[in-house]
Amino acid sequence: MRSGDEVLSRQRNRGFAGHAAGLASFVVPLAFIAFLLLPTSHANLSSIASVNGHVYSLPSSASITSVASDVISLAKPGSSLDITGDVLAIGSGRPMKTHLGGHAVSPDAVLTDGAVVLVAHGENTLEGIAAKTEAIPFKTVVEGSGAIVHLAQLGNAGERTLYLGMSSRKQAAVFTLSAPHNEILQRTPTAKDGQKLVALTFDDGPGKWTQSVLDALAAKHVPATFFVLGSSAAGNTAMIRKLRDAGHEVENHTWGHPQLDKLTPDQIRSQIARTEAVIGPSRFLRPPYGAYNATVAGVATSMGYRLALWTVDTLDWKNRDADAIFAHVKSETKPGAIILMHDGGLERSQTVAAIPKIVDWLLRNGYSLTTVRNLL
Ligand code: NI
Repeated sequence: MRSGDEVLSRQRNRGFAGHAAGLASFVVPLAFIAFLLLPTSHANLSSIASVNGHVYSLPSSASITSVASDVISLAKPGSSLDITGDVLAIGSGRPMKTHLGGHAVSPDAVLTDGAVVLVAHGENTLEGIAAKTEAIPFKTVVEGSGAIVHLAQLGNAGERTLYLGMSSRKQAAVFTLSAPHNEILQRTPTAKDGQKLVALTFDDGPGKWTQSVLDALAAKHVPATFFVLGSSAAGNTAMIRKLRDAGHEVENHTWGHPQLDKLTPDQIRSQIARTEAVIGPSRFLRPPYGAYNATVAGVATSMGYRLALWTVDTLDWKNRDADAIFAHVKSETKPGAIILMHDGGLERSQTVAAIPKIVDWLLRNGYSLTTVRNLL
């Protein structure tokens, strides 16, 4: 519009009245040219804009949305994605974008003649990633299958960092900071190459049958191993001395015969230590009922003990019959055997009666009787 006015005013300022006719011959074609250039009431028809390459005529004060609603409606917002690329929420990413002359504008921006508009889809957004450091638990591994048990290696948890999607909680990556060290329970066998050694063991004493067991062993001149209860030994330290004086081995069977794998480390320690205070230090702990776990083995090992299980269970506490007891020994004994019997507890006359049968049979079959310590 301004350029058209300038063109007209220059023509008027010439103003030579005497040459009015000549002037008219100038003015008329110029006015016609000005008419063509003037964007007054005819401007609506000649103003145009390009939106994504489509050309639109512009009404006055037209916004991008009002002119190119078809293009605007096709533009979609982005979605939010989780770390694996799955869509968390459609359309909740970045909104569609409108650019006018290279600058981001609102879709409601007013268009001017010659405007070049680009409308683009919104972009996907990725969820945040959180790092979380956690322990890698260790495993308990049992090595071997022998009757003597100790904790050969302490377990140590490792550590790893997980990278997780903050919304999806999906795992993106794992980074191991330190590997776990497994806990190793070693089970040592008691068989020695080329030797036929056997250990008779008596549990739960000392009690009123202990002297009879002692006499039966003395009659055959063979040693045995006694796993005594601290609570029983406390009132009968004379018998503990007597057992040792006769060449037998006295070992620890806890204070009160609890199931050790149900106790805390402190309670396990106390069961061992209280008994030790009565009978003195020993090398082996026989867990009552043979019940143990890595905690029991760990506490015992830390106190200098190994767990001593058995390989032949005579079930003498259940089958109070000398022949039945003897039958277990005959069918189950192998070199390195640890034979379980009881001198403590209830009526043990059949255990006492089985001793000479067992010893004779063992000697006849080439076995030597020894204590648990000497099996290893
Ligand atoms: Ni017992």
